[in-house]
Amino acid sequence: MIITIDGPAGSGKSTVARKLAARLRIPYLDTGAMYRVITLAAINAGANFEDEAELLDVAQKADYRLDLGPTHIRVTLGDHDVTEALRSMRVNTHTRFIAGAPKIRELLVNRQREIGRELGSMVTEGRDQGSVAFPDADAKFYIDADIRQRARRRYHELVADGEEVDEETVLQNVVERDRTDRERAVAPLRRPDDAVSIDTSHLGVTDVIAIMLWHLHSRGLIAQIPADDQ
Ligand code: DC
Repeated sequence: MIITIDGPAGSGKSTVARKLAARLRIPYLDTGAMYRVITLAAINAGANFEDEAELLDVAQKADYRLDLGPTHIRVTLGDHDVTEALRSMRVNTHTRFIAGAPKIRELLVNRQREIGRELGSMVTEGRDQGSVAFPDADAKFYIDADIRQRARRRYHELVADGEEVDEETVLQNVVERDRTDRERAVAPLRRPDDAVSIDTSHLGVTDVIAIMLWHLHSRGLIAQIPADDQ
């Protein structure tokens, strides 16, 4: 069973995807981490971010590994665990170059499909999972929230990670990423017609998971609602 969750930055989809996967006891794939690890590899290589051919070369050669589980995802680049480093502001501000490069997207979408085939079942989250990567997914969700709410969530995540940022800068970064996500020529962020929309502005994670599980159950995709034993 492939379940896709798409939505803009800070909509809460990573937390929701991780928790939904844990409840269903299947792995989850954070596809944003793939775009981020290529971004970090390009930063480390001192690549010119305006040069798509150079970025593609970095993407093709990047020696990264994703360790996927129902409660965690760890990413290594070469010999280094870069899971935390991927969330830095430096990476945040450069991902758009990677996400806007059609050949890199093709490479990553192919890898995502391979992972889906290998695992059989997973919750996968990103911007184009229901629209491009898995158009035949068993269930599709689209998560959104008010932009100020999303910026506030990102700000608190960054502060918790020890970054020195102010809320206004994070808001501007989220506004900018929304714009580039929605306006890019290849695989722009959009809600797939057959996706269930959930606005998380005034919902807690538990409520969102309950809605999703209820939906999967009502569609006969799961025989019963799994207990929350976390
Ligand atoms: O979800 P995130 O913030 O970790 O995503 C990081 C970047 O990668 C962001 O600029 C959007 C982009 N992205 C994408 O274009 N397609 C995806 N499937 C996932 C992320």
